[in-house]
Amino acid sequence: MDYLQIEGPTKLSGSVEIAGAKNAALPLIAMTLLASNEVTINNIPNVVDIKTLLKLLENLGATVDIKNNSVKVDTCCLTNTKATYDIVKTMRASILVLGPLLARFGHCEVSLPGGCAIGQRPIDLHLKALEQMGAEISIEAGYVLAKAPNGLKGAHIVFDKITVTGTANIVMAAALAKGKTIITNAALEPEVVQLCQVLKSSGISIDGIGTTELIIYGTDRRLVEIAPFSVIPDRIEAGTYLCAAAITNSEVTVKKVRADHLEALISKLEQMGFTLDITPDTITLKPAKQIKAIDVTTQEFPGFPTDMQAQFLTLCTQATGVSIIEERLFENRFMHVSELQRLGASIKLKGNSATIAGKIDLVGADVMATDLRASSALVLAALVAEGTTNVHRIYHLDRGYEGLEKKLQKLGAKIKRLKE
Ligand code: EPZ
Repeated sequence: MDYLQIEGPTKLSGSVEIAGAKNAALPLIAMTLLASNEVTINNIPNVVDIKTLLKLLENLGATVDIKNNSVKVDTCCLTNTKATYDIVKTMRASILVLGPLLARFGHCEVSLPGGCAIGQRPIDLHLKALEQMGAEISIEAGYVLAKAPNGLKGAHIVFDKITVTGTANIVMAAALAKGKTIITNAALEPEVVQLCQVLKSSGISIDGIGTTELIIYGTDRRLVEIAPFSVIPDRIEAGTYLCAAAITNSEVTVKKVRADHLEALISKLEQMGFTLDITPDTITLKPAKQIKAIDVTTQEFPGFPTDMQAQFLTLCTQATGVSIIEERLFENRFMHVSELQRLGASIKLKGNSATIAGKIDLVGADVMATDLRASSALVLAALVAEGTTNVHRIYHLDRGYEGLEKKLQKLGAKIKRLKE
């Protein structure tokens, strides 16, 4: 197994290019199940989660041709509609094939994803919405068995909670359903917006894109022709590098980004004392005279993203004063706290709230990654910790960050990948 060895403290400088968004690419790859043609997707991030979903599609009988950061997916001649446990268990986002498979074939079997390190993560809202659209759903031997022999029908779906993959799944199901589907309380995340935009430019009529109410007019199982497109930049990868610049109090430019997807984060960094220079596709973070403590509450987009909570909490260990971070989306997303405490961080946890006292001089140690964003948070801590930090179990990192150590090396970090 690989691990990362990082020598700190260090300053960073220069620029880093941001890859395509993993969480946009995943639903867009699932969307190829709705296409009548071979679909070309550009700016695909080279990360393990993407390979996992492509493998799942190959298992269904799709042909996949991946070159550099482009992939061509042809789902014309699928041979089966069963997403098996061995793949689904490794990546919850596999559930994204449920809506499109059911809408296209009228039946499918998808393994239940189960819980994960950050919380229970049920899929009840996906299933309830599909039932409203006429699906018959049962759970047998760990699989969701879904049937809609006469096809799915449009319905008015009101999500009890905002769900990102839930919204994506139902948008895709609605695209091939019969009639009009209204989704109230839809997710506003840029990744959902891009899915809707690509479907719209492929001829699916969708109103309300980027609002909490989406109206989708389905094709009654007619597949759509999807032209080549590029995945939007990864706002969480960009945010992570901005936090790397901030925690080391260095000047760094992130390139190929969309600042309008990062407003909540930019505002918090400014409140902490950093200056941010923004152009249409770059953000430069400039050092603060003194890093100020801050309060953050995670929320759905356009609020502060839960996927940046671990990195920001780590940054707060280097701010002067007491910061409070409240996690509103996932009940167990503080696994990084005990690892940060091994480096000397002063953090108190109470329920879904973390109180961080700073500034603390962190000291290098062996730490273990527990999930994707917690892993990147530990790398950020290691950049400022005195001495050597070894971050173990970095397979989590490889799921969602393209070439993290290479990008950080280019910025001047002393980081290398080693074998246990
Ligand atoms: C997406 O997960 C992202 N994953 C997550 O990113 C991200 O943390 C999350 O959205 C929130 O922004 C992908 O896009 C592939 P949700 P998702 O459904 O869609 C509850 C990362 O690090 N809920 O929006 O699974 C749920 O438990 C990952 O890249 C139900 O109760 O999240 C949570 O509390 C981790 N029932 C809340 O809703 C359901 O049926 C939001 O979850 C569905 C969700």
